[in-house]
Amino acid sequence: MLISEKMNGALNEQIGNELGASNQYLNIASYFDGQTLPVLAGFFFRQSDEERAHALKFLHYVLEAGGRVALPAIEAPPATIQSAEQAVKMALDWELEVTRQINDLMGQAIEEKDHITQNFLQWFVEEQLEEVSTMDDLLAVVRRAGEGGLLFVEEYLDRLGDPHSGEGAG
Ligand SMILES: [Fe+2]
Ligand SMILES: [Fe+2]
Repeated sequence: MLISEKMNGALNEQIGNELGASNQYLNIASYFDGQTLPVLAGFFFRQSDEERAHALKFLHYVLEAGGRVALPAIEAPPATIQSAEQAVKMALDWELEVTRQINDLMGQAIEEKDHITQNFLQWFVEEQLEEVSTMDDLLAVVRRAGEGGLLFVEEYLDRLGDPHSGEGAG
């Protein structure tokens, strides 16, 4: 096995964290769908897919490194969302939390002189910068528009395009 038992356990935890994020985004997407805000709903459905892809990236890394995959229990996402601002704030807080988790994993890999895992985690370090900054911008736009102006937010997201597809203005 290329990774320590401890690292194997930590990576399994992170598979659960990413799946938890995926569920959280499904919840948020459903809230926006219920509010008839299809662009915001679509944005969060895509985020959910991405988090699942992150989970699979961790899972395949564990397999490739000869570790044992063991999925942890996944906490239910908060059931009630009252406003767009609350939903996006939740998403931002979640991304900040995931950034801390990735930093902790990286810290452990450095401590263990595990360069292979450090190399693997580097992609996630960059991804978190993008995710936090995207969510931070979205929260600012939602706050400026207010709950009555969410159609402006939809237009903003439409103009922006999918930040991961390389289309749109930026
Ligand atoms: Fe993620
Ligand atoms: Fe994320």
